[in-house]
Amino acid sequence: MENKAVAVSLDKAYRLLNHGPTVLVTSAHGDQCNVMAAAWNMPLDFKPPKVAIVIDKNTYTRELIMASGNFAINVPCAAQTEMVMKVGSSSGRELLGKEQSTKFAAFDLATFPASKVHVPLIAGCIAWLECQLISEPHIQEAYDLYLAEVVAAWADERVFSDGRWHFDGHDDLKTLHHVAGGFFFTPGDSIQAHQE
Ligand SMILES: Cc1cc2nc3c(=O)[nH]c(=O)nc-3n(C[C@H](O)[C@H](O)[C@H](O)COP(=O)(O)O)c2cc1C
Repeated sequence: MENKAVAVSLDKAYRLLNHGPTVLVTSAHGDQCNVMAAAWNMPLDFKPPKVAIVIDKNTYTRELIMASGNFAINVPCAAQTEMVMKVGSSSGRELLGKEQSTKFAAFDLATFPASKVHVPLIAGCIAWLECQLISEPHIQEAYDLYLAEVVAAWADERVFSDGRWHFDGHDDLKTLHHVAGGFFFTPGDSIQAHQE
C-alpha cells in the first residue's frame, strides 16, 4: 500500500466514486408526474446508448417508471443546487391529494415536454436524456439498478458543443457532483491529454 494511503471504511467506500454529476430523474404515468435526485448513475454503452441508475424501492419515481416504462435524466447545474436538495429530500407520494400535488408545483419548477417519451423535462437544467426502460427484473429487485436505452438527448449549447462540456465563464451552469450530505463539487480545470 502507498505510504500516504489512508484506509477508508467500507461504508464510505462509495464516496470515492460518488462525484459524477448528480441528476434529476423525471417520470410520469397517467396524470401523475414526479422528479427525484440521483447521484448514482452512469453511462453503460455507446450504440445504442444505454445508462444505469439506482432507483430505491421506496421512491415514488420507481412506481411511476414501473408503470410507464420510461423516464428522463435531467442534468442540473450549480444555480439549481437548493432545488436539487429539495426534490431529493421529499417524496412526490406525500404530495398526492394536496393543493400543490406535485414537486413541480410545490417547488415552482418549469417544465417542457420530451420529444420521444411522455415525461416532463426540467427547464434551467443543462442536459436531458430521454430514456426507455430495459426491463431487468432481477437487478431491479436485488440491487435497485435500472437500465435504460437513451432514445433522445439534448444539451445547453452554451456549455456543451462539439461533443464536450466547456464551462468557462459559466460558473452557474456547471454540473453538480455530490460528495455527501448536501455538499457538492463543481468541475474545475480541464486537462487535454496529448494524443498521437
Ligand atoms: C444529492 C442526492 C442524491 C441522491 N441520489 C439518489 C440515487 O442515486 N438513488 C436513489 O434512489 N435516491 C437518491 N437520492 C434520494 C432520492 O432523491 C429521494 O429518496 C427522493 O425523495 C425520492 O423522491 P420520490 O419518492 O418523489 O421519487 C438522492 C438524494 C439527494 C439529495
